This record gives sequence, C-alpha cells and structure tokens, in this order.
Amino acid sequence: MFAPGTSGLGSVRRRGSMMIALLGDIEIGYDDAGAGEAVLFVHGFPHDRTLWSPQLQGLATRARCIACDLRGFGESTCAPPYSMSRYADDLVALLDRLRLERAVIVGLSMGGYVALALWRQAPQRVRGLVLANTRAGADSDAAREKRRQMLAIARNEGSSGVAVAMLPGMLGKTTRDKNPEVMDAVHRMLTAAPVEGVIGGLEAMLERPDSTATLSTVTVPTLIVHGDEDALIPVEEARAMHAAIRGSTLEVIAGAGHLSNLERPAAFNHLVSEFLGRLTLE
Ligand code: MLT
Repeated sequence: MFAPGTSGLGSVRRRGSMMIALLGDIEIGYDDAGAGEAVLFVHGFPHDRTLWSPQLQGLATRARCIACDLRGFGESTCAPPYSMSRYADDLVALLDRLRLERAVIVGLSMGGYVALALWRQAPQRVRGLVLANTRAGADSDAAREKRRQMLAIARNEGSSGVAVAMLPGMLGKTTRDKNPEVMDAVHRMLTAAPVEGVIGGLEAMLERPDSTATLSTVTVPTLIVHGDEDALIPVEEARAMHAAIRGSTLEVIAGAGHLSNLERPAAFNHLVSEFLGRLTLE
C-alpha cells in the first residue's frame, strides 16, 4: 500500500476555482478536474498551469487531470532553490499530498526537462510519460549565451521584456497568422509570470543536466508529441528521443509550433486520450 512521505502532511485549501497545497514551506497552486487515471500536467517556461486549460476541458471526462504551477510561477510560491531536480521534488510532494502513488506525467518543453528529472529521481511515481515539444540535451554553448541574454532582459525589463523577446518563437506560423487570440492569451500569461520565477527558471535551465543518458532507462509507456512549426526546439530533437526511448510513440502535429497543446488542442487531446486508452489495456 502507498505510504505518503512526510511531505504529504501539509494542508490543501481552495482559492477561487483552484487549489493550493502547502508542501513544507512553499505553496503550490493546481487545478484538479475529472476522475480516473491521474495525469499531472507540467508547464514550460515561462508559463503557468493555465497553459493546460484546453486539456483540463477536453480530457477531464476520461482522466483525473491535475495541472500545477511550478515554484516561482502562477500561484505557487517564489522561493529558491530553482532547479529541475527541485521542481521534480515539488511534484513528488504534490503527488504525496494528493495520495497518488503514480501519475502519467505530461511535460511540455521545460516541463519535459522536469518530467525526465522526475523519472530519474522517482521512477516508481511515473505511470507513463508524455514529452511534448521538448528535448533531452542540456544547453549548447550558443543556447547558454542566449539564455544569459534572456537573463539580462529579465533583470532589466522584467517579465514583459521576456514576453516580447520570446513570444514570436513560441507560436507556429499558422497560429500567428490565423489565431491572434491565442497569441494574445500567451502574451498575457508570459507577462504575468513573476520575475523572480522567470530568473529562477532561466538559471535552472542554464544549469540543467543533460538527460540524454536517461532516455534509455525509461521503461514506462511514452508518447512524444511535437509541432512541425516549432521554432524553439526542432522536431529532430523529438525524433532523437523517440529513437532512444524503447517502445515510444512519436506524433508530429501539423500546423502547431512550440505550444502544440494550445495551438492544436483537439489534435493534442486526441493523442493523449489514445495514449491513456492504450495504458488501460496493459
Ligand atoms: C520552454 O518553453 O519551456 C522553453 O522555451 C524551453 C527552453 O528555453 O529551453
């Protein structure tokens, strides 16, 4: 029987339509909808749990969908240390608090970096993985240089400067041309991100370990999803993960950029729903 760790002893309360879990000395905000197989959605950078609104709306009829704010984002406390490993520890503490032995972890971009850290640290808590618009490798030298430039923007101009710098690359051309309301919603989300969390997230990504060697250790069912218009992470990264994770499935969504779950929500939800269906057959 599942015995929650000590981090599961905190309290949970409602704030408006969302929930807040007190986990040790920090609060983690989350939405929790539906029943059945537990699916924990982990947002990217610099997002918050509302990135997953289309998934909570579309998938809560077939699964228990939990979307949380990583520390430093959304309604969660801003508190160092910020690292992939600490973000993953927070997710384990949330699973403990919710008395969930295991969950399917769905991570987009930085959320994928966290999902792979969680797999390394607590594989017994992972029922399956959905790795969306992400990569396994650490930052290249060129990426580290860009990361430092983004840190300077965050420190000098705040989250709105980061939003302006990141937004064009974050959405695919199809979305930018045809769905300006998605662009506006993402701009609002990026601008609202607490600057401490943004700086913490950038430093955490800069320092993150290379997870390439982790891929061959993955033994749970894994779905890899990517957008064919992703300008931030090339689709080749998804193909490389697919080649390295035994038995994984790769799906490339046409007309979607880096935020494939928001840009083509019906297609994304269909893929996750099918994946969950295959899990229950096992
Ligand atoms: C994200 O969407 O989480 C970030 O773009 C990932 C990154 O910058 O490496």
